[in-house]
Amino acid sequence: MQGNIVKIGLLGCGNVGQGVVKGIELHSNKILCKLGVTLVVSKALVQDISKERTIGGVVLTQQPQDILDDPEIEVIVEVMGGEYPAYFYLKEALAKGKHVVTANKLLLALHGTELQAIARRKGTCLLYEGSVLGGIPILRTIQHGLAGDQVKRIRGILNGTTNYILTQMVESGKGYEEALQEAQEAGYAESDPTMDVTGLDAACKLVILCRECFELEIPLEEVEIKGIQGLTGEEVAEQKRQGRVPKLVAEASVVEKSSSGPEKRREGIIAKVGVQWLSGEAILSHVSGVDNGLSLETQLAGELFWKGPGAGGLATGGAVLSDIVEIAKKVVIERSIGNAAR
Ligand SMILES: NC(=O)c1ccc[n+]([C@@H]2O[C@H](COP(=O)([O-])OP(=O)(O)OC[C@H]3O[C@@H](n4cnc5c(N)ncnc54)[C@H](OP(=O)(O)O)[C@@H]3O)[C@@H](O)[C@H]2O)c1
Repeated sequence: MQGNIVKIGLLGCGNVGQGVVKGIELHSNKILCKLGVTLVVSKALVQDISKERTIGGVVLTQQPQDILDDPEIEVIVEVMGGEYPAYFYLKEALAKGKHVVTANKLLLALHGTELQAIARRKGTCLLYEGSVLGGIPILRTIQHGLAGDQVKRIRGILNGTTNYILTQMVESGKGYEEALQEAQEAGYAESDPTMDVTGLDAACKLVILCRECFELEIPLEEVEIKGIQGLTGEEVAEQKRQGRVPKLVAEASVVEKSSSGPEKRREGIIAKVGVQWLSGEAILSHVSGVDNGLSLETQLAGELFWKGPGAGGLATGGAVLSDIVEIAKKVVIERSIGNAAR
């Protein structure tokens, strides 16, 4: 039994892309039994076709149009990263009425609102569970689980690479450069770690979380960002003696902005990313290594907290797959309505 077949095109087939393929391979039976859908990754866009990958029968291409122009592909999954050309590809996919899933936080922080508006206009889905906190299913929890509540404050460790480096500095007494090098050797930091260590990666995720939690937009350039590069081993050792550990904390809350008169008051967001020295009483001080942690203070439920793998091809691939499943449900319903109308 195959049920309904939903074809997927991947833009990018690296860590996360291969995680998606693996997730489908592992869970296709469960998905078929629950939804009556067979998910098929038919093509994947890559730069270098000769690279070794575990992708079964997926056809690799270097031509984006092979995927974007394929009428059988209904779901485009962007896991290539970067602002361009991903932005152009996703705009084109949405304009063509395809559903889109992405894990690209930079793209979403910069262009998420515009892309979401195109998706709404075209009646398609743009989903991005993998873009924030990797394997922790936080966006759907905010959208559905907290639909009856209101988040007042966001506070979290949103970047696993810097958390690993800081944990190494505390636990092994290493200096910043040495801890960074170790993170690179262990595969937790990229060869160019700029986005992580400057705090930009965490800031992108904070922008997305603000959109979801507050339904307000904060431009990325308005987030106050300070990374971990200036930290010294001596400073960390001294604070450790006083019972405090450094954490790269991203936090945001809504404030009422007053301009010239009370009638001009409107809501805005204060958002920042920077190193904070936390004592053992702070819940975030116990989020160590590559883990991420998020605390949301809500009006009705009070403080809620999540901790878990914030990155990794399989964990993030699973989050991306949860979006694909969500879309597949919609596609199947639309097909059955279409069949009934014929
Ligand atoms: N890795 C994680 O743990 C994680 C977690 C959360 C979110 N994300 C996000 O997920 C996305 C993918 O991350 P990743 O770790 O999977 O990256 P990656 O391993 O570097 O994979 C990127 C893939 O995209 C392809 N690609 C890049 N630029 C391309 C271009 N211009 N044309 C055609 N193909 C191109 C690469 O092709 P080649 O293989 O031929 O080089 C590669 O297959 C990023 O937006 C990242 O921020 C990653």
